[in-house]
Amino acid sequence: AANGELKGKKVMITAGPTYEKIDPVRFIGNYSSGKMGFALAEECARRGAEVTLIAGPVQLETRHSRIRRIDVESAEEMYAASQACFFDSDAAILCAAVADFCPEMVADKKIKREKEEELTLHLRATKDIAASLGAVKRKDQLLVGFALETNNEQQNAEGKLERKNFDFIVLNSLNDAGAGFRHDTNKISIIDRKGRTDYPLKSKTEVARDIIDRLSDELKHLTLN
Ligand code: C5P
Repeated sequence: AANGELKGKKVMITAGPTYEKIDPVRFIGNYSSGKMGFALAEECARRGAEVTLIAGPVQLETRHSRIRRIDVESAEEMYAASQACFFDSDAAILCAAVADFCPEMVADKKIKREKEEELTLHLRATKDIAASLGAVKRKDQLLVGFALETNNEQQNAEGKLERKNFDFIVLNSLNDAGAGFRHDTNKISIIDRKGRTDYPLKSKTEVARDIIDRLSDELKHLTLN
């Protein structure tokens, strides 16, 4: 792919997990490393795009001068940053593993064990960033989602494509060895309203190339319409 292929395009990417505070020293999180999202950001920047990378808590660095990084912790913070950025973006790739639930209340002091045998945490649903952006997406914008499924992957992915108004969705299955969370490799399928393309197991850098090839293609078509 040509290096300046995405010159002048603004791409927003969410990456990593979110942490939902329970008390000052504890949180609910997940195993997302952020590697896939960071690889996508690097690939977009390499092709000339101006990237805004909205990152949850991850142990990763970004070097590229065309990547503006916004660090967030919770789903609520990621939602706010995404809302602020999307309007001005040509495309958004939602790669973050956003918590679906967060504690209803955050204890202001460390919760003590004392003599309790049980502790009940009340959780409430977080906002769906993808669905909220899908609802305001314009014809000149692309929205790309991810799905990590343990069962009924095709059907679940198609459901998300519709519900969240994605242009296409990247499916990675937890059933594949070497794919998904924390690995340096990934095995994906890209699903849109016309069908499905399966890709072999590759490094996340190479997977990012495949995804951005597709994104870039679709952006060209948007421009032509
Ligand atoms: O419904 P599910 O969480 O499996 O959907 C996954 C897709 O939706 C991913 O692209 C993820 O980044 C996005 N998502 C989001 N905000 C949420 C939950 C999921 O943007 N609160």
